[in-house]
Amino acid sequence: MTTDHATPTWWRHAVIYQVYPRSFADSDGDGIGDLPGALSHLDDLVELGVDAVWFSPFYRSPMADAGYDVSDYRDVDPIFGTLADADALLAAAHGRGLKVIVDLVPNHSSDQHRWFQEALAAGPGSAARARYVFRDGAGDDGAYPPNGWQSVFGGAAWSRVPDGQWYLHLFHPGQPDLNWENPEVRAEFEDILRFWLDRGVDGFRVDVAHGLVKAVGLPDQDAAGGGGPMWDQDGVHEIYRSWRKILDGYPGGRIMVAEAWVSPPERLGRYVRGDEMHQAFNFEFLQAPWDATRQREVIATSLATTAAVGAPTTWVLSNHDVVRHATRLAGPAGAPLHQGIGAADPHPDLALGLRRARAATALMLALPGSAYLYQGEELGLPEDVRLPDEVRQDPTWLRSGHTIRGRDGCRVPLPWVADAPSYGFGPGPSSWLPQPDIWARYALDRQRGVAGSTYELYRRALALRREYGLGTTGLIWLDLGPDVVAFRAGTVLVLANLGTAGVPVPDGVAVVLASGPLADDGTVPTDTTVWAR
Ligand code: NOJ
Repeated sequence: MTTDHATPTWWRHAVIYQVYPRSFADSDGDGIGDLPGALSHLDDLVELGVDAVWFSPFYRSPMADAGYDVSDYRDVDPIFGTLADADALLAAAHGRGLKVIVDLVPNHSSDQHRWFQEALAAGPGSAARARYVFRDGAGDDGAYPPNGWQSVFGGAAWSRVPDGQWYLHLFHPGQPDLNWENPEVRAEFEDILRFWLDRGVDGFRVDVAHGLVKAVGLPDQDAAGGGGPMWDQDGVHEIYRSWRKILDGYPGGRIMVAEAWVSPPERLGRYVRGDEMHQAFNFEFLQAPWDATRQREVIATSLATTAAVGAPTTWVLSNHDVVRHATRLAGPAGAPLHQGIGAADPHPDLALGLRRARAATALMLALPGSAYLYQGEELGLPEDVRLPDEVRQDPTWLRSGHTIRGRDGCRVPLPWVADAPSYGFGPGPSSWLPQPDIWARYALDRQRGVAGSTYELYRRALALRREYGLGTTGLIWLDLGPDVVAFRAGTVLVLANLGTAGVPVPDGVAVVLASGPLADDGTVPTDTTVWAR
């Protein structure tokens, strides 16, 4: 079976590859990846066998948060290229049958955005301030923040401006939250959507989709309950319904995928109701420990809660915000996700992590629904746990007073060529984060065509997934023991062994894909997934 890119429902089972532009490929040698660099590697993504590419932000930005602080939503930052480069990339991707999803960052702009600069200049009570969340402070002279909200990156979620008012920033002070109660903000983003849809993008990954609307009166945390007064407010859904109408006016199946860290799963399901978004990242799955009972539970619950609203489930194991799964799955269950790992911390075993990551990916790629891959996971890249603290760039590190290392360890530029400067990331030796020596062994050119390599495992899994229509099928659970996750998906029997003892492949089927070597007696060893028919 082939993916029909013309069908409006392509996204229901697509495999979508996340490019984090600054770390993917650098064309000009400044050490920061860019759009021409990405274009030059599109053929590699076609070879890998993905259906679509999601690009993290490449818009104009002062880079307080690596581009998630946008100062112009309709232009490309010079470090990444030009608008013409974006158009060329889009055309080149489409020419190769790849769909393109871009990032949309509606919760906050940059503090360098024209609107925020106007708000600063215009003063309290102005229409310009009403595009953001400005308030007077608490206390007699307003010297205290309006409420006790904390920023995700550490410290108060409020900063004071020279005239004494405070503005809200759930993230960095350079990321002021927009006021989504203001019709002007809504109109502006509808226009931004059209700007990129008109250029031909196939969809949007919506940043902090659960954050746009805040509880009325901005109550303190303990007074509001649920996900907290800043998250997952019912009012966000009206925004996505209005966007859906816009997307539906374009041909070819344009989509939205929600980045919404909400629970329980029923709350996530609300983002993918028929008239809202198409997909929502399944972070419950991403966070599930490597334990068969828990994996079965999270898979079953996810499928049920999305099916209840007629949506598929959108699987994901890694992205630019979390410890890479080739490291995470060898660490302690429940270990912090976004905090990174420092050189002096205990380091999860590389081989164990990779074995589990390969098994987890083979499991994920057989599940009904769509799946996202994060650049470098097809190489088996681990988190860079030895990154020196002095080079860290994630604002979290500074904002937390050097207590939370943050996400740099999963953002280290990719190795393409083992024996080249910057491992082929760029033409010269520079890379915005230093690459560790072990990158050589993960380089694409060391893995391409090498039997048993992680890259060839991904390639084969994606080819078979397409051939057998995995992702499009239902799932029938099989009971092969408490430590085994086993099911039938269409004509394929999937068996993931999370226990310690080998598990025999059931009679009557032959293994077509194995995430690692089988035992001499043909059984499936620990931390291994097979597909059989
Ligand atoms: C989620 C993005 O993925 C992350 O990288 C960013 O820091 C926050 N949203 C704020 O935009």
